[in-house]
Amino acid sequence: EKGLRVSDKGFLNTAVLRSEITFIDGDAGVLRYRGYPIEQLAVQSSHLETAYLLIYGSLPSKAQFQVFHDEVMHHSVIHSDAEQFFRSFRYDAHPMAMMTTALAYLGSYYSEANPSLQGQNLFTRGDAASLAIMDKQIYRLIGKATTLAAMAYRVRQGREFVTPPTGLSYTGSFLYQMDHLGQENYAPNPVLEKALDVLFLLHADHELNASATTVLQTGSSLVDPFSAVAAGCASLYGPLHGGANEAVIRMLISIGKPENVPAFIEAVKKREKVLSGFGHRVYKTSDPRSFIVRKTADEVFKITGRDDLLDTAMALHDAAMKDEYFIKRKLAPNVDFWSGLIYRAMGFPNDYFPVLFAVPRVVGWLAHWRQMMLQSGGVKIWRPRQIYVGPGKRDYVPVDERI
Ligand code: SDX
Repeated sequence: EKGLRVSDKGFLNTAVLRSEITFIDGDAGVLRYRGYPIEQLAVQSSHLETAYLLIYGSLPSKAQFQVFHDEVMHHSVIHSDAEQFFRSFRYDAHPMAMMTTALAYLGSYYSEANPSLQGQNLFTRGDAASLAIMDKQIYRLIGKATTLAAMAYRVRQGREFVTPPTGLSYTGSFLYQMDHLGQENYAPNPVLEKALDVLFLLHADHELNASATTVLQTGSSLVDPFSAVAAGCASLYGPLHGGANEAVIRMLISIGKPENVPAFIEAVKKREKVLSGFGHRVYKTSDPRSFIVRKTADEVFKITGRDDLLDTAMALHDAAMKDEYFIKRKLAPNVDFWSGLIYRAMGFPNDYFPVLFAVPRVVGWLAHWRQMMLQSGGVKIWRPRQIYVGPGKRDYVPVDERI
């Protein structure tokens, strides 16, 4: 234990690096991407422009954004033989399992970007050629994230895949590929496209959450970014993290009518149930994203019609916010509490919601990955220590002498 500082289990309150990307003040409920308040970006920016900001550190000029946009959209196409790969999934495989697997699989396509083939310092060299390869992997991952997500959706429906269209926005192209009305009927709905774009922007990054830490832990071995992002996607899949938006809807459905809320609250207080969508490791007053999501929900419901679960969600929210149990534990709605209601109103199946978290979060994972690759002094593999509390030295006992 000499010289080791033991952080509580699960990295609680442990700073493992310095970052210029996202700032969170958990007590004041503040979230800024590269210094810009999330409230301003949500209204004035777009997910793809914010992606550029998070990854490269400044808001792009018109020309810079055009190049970035065109590269991402150009690289959203998937090799046609990857379609057979997707067809190998059972139709009812969880879409997050499909995303995680497909991201790792796709990484094998790009040998020019494979550090084990091109030299382990490929991403840390920092010269123009390797930066260009890094950028291309970034364009590919952001572009293909929507296409993989759409393919996972179509597998679930037993429908043919849709080639990413040209001329639509990043979110519009995604909705086009997903569209369950069939492409001939597809008419971009600006309100729904904008709502999804705001949700993508809000989910783009969140400092060193479990999945970003997973990407960096994995990336620190200098594996390629597709593999590191696949690892992050696996972490996000869990119900304590990105899987919470799906868990919220299942929770609301299980509660049913608003009059059942008090009984549910009591069950939570007895620790028989978890109030999904509430609480946060960092935010101890409020998650600023939840207010923007809540407002976006009202915009969406004007188009899709009000979701009957909204009354239950609002009753649950109001009951929890004035209950001593939750107040004492500083539990408030997080980004996941309201977002599932929007996805449900937009017609996505419940288990697809975490995919709608993963697609935009690819941006944040890549921002942290790129920052680590280019950090001064190069990359050190992440290798935490432990405090050993197991048995002392003991000798082997042959099986016949064991009781
Ligand atoms: C995301 O890290 C990030 O930034 C994540 C994220 C991102 O953008 O990447 O913000 C996205 O993952 C949001 C969180 C989504 N998860 C959920 O909504 C699942 C429900 N939430 C809880 O599981 C929990 O709040 C966590 C996992 C989010 C946080 O867990 P912590 O940090 O261990 O919780 P805590 O230490 O703050 O808990 C304090 C107390 C404990 O009670 P006591 O044991 O002290 O009596 O509050 C209790 C907890 O048991 N508690 C809850 C609760 N969350 C915490 N009790 C009931 N319901 C809850 N939701």
